[in-house]
Amino acid sequence: MKIGATFLTSKNIPQDLRKLNDTDVDYIHVDVMDGKFVKNKTMPFSEMRNIYKYTSKRLDVHLMVVNPSKYIPLYAELNTEFITFHVEVEEDIIDCLELIKSYSIKCGLAISPDTKISELIPYLPYLDEVIVMSVPPGAGGQEFILSTEARIQELRDLIDSYHFSILINVDGGINDKTVSYCSLADIITCGSYITKSDNFQEKITSLRV
Ligand code: DX5
Ligand code: ZN
Repeated sequence: MKIGATFLTSKNIPQDLRKLNDTDVDYIHVDVMDGKFVKNKTMPFSEMRNIYKYTSKRLDVHLMVVNPSKYIPLYAELNTEFITFHVEVEEDIIDCLELIKSYSIKCGLAISPDTKISELIPYLPYLDEVIVMSVPPGAGGQEFILSTEARIQELRDLIDSYHFSILINVDGGINDKTVSYCSLADIITCGSYITKSDNFQEKITSLRV
């Protein structure tokens, strides 16, 4: 299982990114919010692009935006491994997935807790990753939704039934307790449990058991 760390709730982003760069975390998860798809807004791309100054880790970009097609070309410029946007958007999903692929970047869909897993079926042939949200999108520091465990199982069964190799990434409210509900995941994404601590590596290691 790989681990992504998000700095969404970080009080000092450059410092925390430098600290994360010194750990064995696998990805930096970049939460991008436009204030429309979710009520919160993250820093503009002109600031976000400076992330390379603080970390050489590969990026797992999570777009919580109404218009992914506007953000994909921007975040494709960075040290980006995955770009994922939400299956709930109005934009043409397949066009946006193809746009990500046109940059030779792995593409994904994120699914909010209230959206049926079956909504993903038409897009599975295109996907490298699915982010299963275990909290409502829009903020860090929320409680893990326990019904996520069954949704991960349902998605795993669905992927296996089509013999696709799609990575499952669980995102939100993950700590050394709730990680036990994510055993079928390929990636877990964690924010405040790590960034609010005084030993990032210790917390990351506690998630790997
Ligand atoms: C929520 C974000 C998550 C969140 C995770 O909208 O997509 O990545 O920041 O943070 P924690 O681990 O604090 O719930
Ligand atoms: Zn996220």
